[in-house]
Amino acid sequence: SDAELQSILDFTIGLARRAGEVMLEGSEKIRESGATDEKKNSVDLVTEYDVKVEQLVIGELSKAYPTFKFIGEETFAAGGYKRPEMTDEPTFCVDPIDGTTNFVHGFPHACISLGLIVARRPVLGVIYNPFLDQLYTARKGHGAFLSSPHSALPVLAAPRRLPLARPRPLPSLGQGLLGIEWGSDRSREMVEKKGDSFKRLAGNPAEGVEGGRMAHSLRSYGSAALNYAMVAQGGLDLYWEIGCWPWDICAGAVIVQEAGGFVAGGHGAPLDNDVNEDVLWGRKHIVVRAIGDTETEKGVDAQKR
Ligand code: IPD
Repeated sequence: SDAELQSILDFTIGLARRAGEVMLEGSEKIRESGATDEKKNSVDLVTEYDVKVEQLVIGELSKAYPTFKFIGEETFAAGGYKRPEMTDEPTFCVDPIDGTTNFVHGFPHACISLGLIVARRPVLGVIYNPFLDQLYTARKGHGAFLSSPHSALPVLAAPRRLPLARPRPLPSLGQGLLGIEWGSDRSREMVEKKGDSFKRLAGNPAEGVEGGRMAHSLRSYGSAALNYAMVAQGGLDLYWEIGCWPWDICAGAVIVQEAGGFVAGGHGAPLDNDVNEDVLWGRKHIVVRAIGDTETEKGVDAQKR
């Protein structure tokens, strides 16, 4: 019910803030000790704090919601990368530290991303970046909000509805500020594919994106969740990545959709803003602000092809 979801949202916000404290404590220790492990390759990083935060979150969620299922980045890795069967049961979907590379380097864009899936669709999302005290929250049907809970300025401490400003329609992708990521798959094929797309977006307008204009510029946050949050906020017009997992995008998807934005899977997926199981596990995502902006949608369609 509505009241139940609100109480889960309140609980997860409290938990995200506690997780944030563990991240703040851990970040300096990790930078001093350099104690980082590599997962699939030398750029797919994990620290003891990813595991610590995930354990804190699993422990607290399973105490409070013993019947709910759980999908988490580190338990997935520990379980041999087997895709769990998705059911209609409520399922928490958590990335304990999204932006682990940033976390390790002290680049202050890392967050916990905490989503809830009900009947196979994300319905609630909390993203908290403790380094910049940015808390993004959303519940299906009730809008998306940004606050800075530790700020002494009341205007920043109180939740502000997203997007912060209603953006003008984007006449073409060519005039947008676009979020992209290299991701952790650095195979030659992937780097070439992504590099070609980035060149097309950023480069010579004669060869560039539709409308003969290049993007105003490209940005990388190093955290999929924070890229989503920035689209919801209105600071990025679009975010496109190949290589995300459900825990990277589950919370962000609700936040973007509740801010009036648009989320779709990759190549061949319908442009219907329905973050179903296939989109969650699809590894290719495109996120755009402003639904109903047909020129943007045409651009997205072109980009997907
Ligand atoms: C990664 C980050 C990164 C994105 C990758 C993600 P992690 O998550 O979000 O920005 O490019 O696709 O896997 O490993 O830091 O939790």
